[in-house]
Amino acid sequence: MPASEEPATGREGLIDRRISRKSVLKAAAVLGTAPLLIGGGVALARDRAGTGEAPGLTPACHDGDGPTVEQTEGPYFKPNSPLRTSLITDGTPGTRLTVSGYVFGRACLPIPGVLLDFWQADVNGAYDNTGFAFRGHQFTNAQGAFSLTTIVPGLYPGRTRHIHVKLQAPGRPVLTTQLYFPGEPRNSTDTIYDARLLMNVRQIGSGKEGTYDFVLNVPQTPGPTGSPTATPTATPTATPTGQPGGTWAAGATYNTGDRVTYAGVSYRCLQGHTAVTGWEPPNVPALWQRS
Ligand SMILES: [Fe+2]
Repeated sequence: MPASEEPATGREGLIDRRISRKSVLKAAAVLGTAPLLIGGGVALARDRAGTGEAPGLTPACHDGDGPTVEQTEGPYFKPNSPLRTSLITDGTPGTRLTVSGYVFGRACLPIPGVLLDFWQADVNGAYDNTGFAFRGHQFTNAQGAFSLTTIVPGLYPGRTRHIHVKLQAPGRPVLTTQLYFPGEPRNSTDTIYDARLLMNVRQIGSGKEGTYDFVLNVPQTPGPTGSPTATPTATPTATPTGQPGGTWAAGATYNTGDRVTYAGVSYRCLQGHTAVTGWEPPNVPALWQRS
C-alpha cells in the first residue's frame, strides 16, 4: 500500500463529512430534486433520503464545515476569461470530465450569483498563456449550483493533477483554491496538495464526473420565509473607501463593450451583466477591463 495520501490530522473526518453532504446532494440530483429551500435554509436531502420522512422544519447544515481552504493561484492565472461552462469542443482530446457542486455560505445556505473562474492544463499538462483554452468563468445559479464541462487535466512536472478556481460572492473577497483528484500517485508527494480539496470522482462511461461543494466565508442570516440571503457586508476590501465617483452604478445593466469610469479609472465591459455591489470594476476582472 502506498504512503498515505492523507495526513493523519483529522482531515479524514472532514473528508467524511464532505462526502456525506456531497453524496446527499448527488442523490438529490439523481432524483431530480434540488435541495429544498425551506424556512430560508437548505433542507438537505439526507434529512429524508431513504426514510420517507418529511424534511425537517428546521433547516440545518450539520457538517460543521469551515470555509474552503485557500491555495496559491500559481503562475498561470489570466484575468478576463470567457463566460462559459464548457471548456471543450467535440474535437478536444482528453477524458471528458464534469465538475459540479454548490457554493455555500457560513450558514450552509447556497449562494446564487457567485463568480467562479476556472483554469487548468490541457491533456498534455500545458496551460494556454496566449489564449483562453481551458479557461472560463461562470456564475452559480439560483440554487447556488455550478457545473463545468472539461477534460481531466494533464500532469506537468512538480504537481499532482489539479484544477484551479477563483470564487467570489458579491461584495466579498476572492477565494483562490484548487481541486484535486482521488487516487493520484502524486498526491502523496505534491507539497501544495490538500486532501480537504479532493473531489468525489466517479467513472461515467468513458468519462468522469467530479463533485465538490465550496463553502465561502460569507455571513448569512436565514430569513424567516424567503430565500437565503447573504448578510449585507461592509465595503469590499478592494474598493476605495467613500464614494469613488464615476459612471458605474450598482443595479445598472451593462453590455459587452460598454464603458464606465470608476474611481477615476476607465473600464470596458467584457461580459454583459447586471452590476451589483461587490462587483465594482476593480474587483471583477472577468467582467471589466481597464481601458
Ligand atoms: Fe496548475
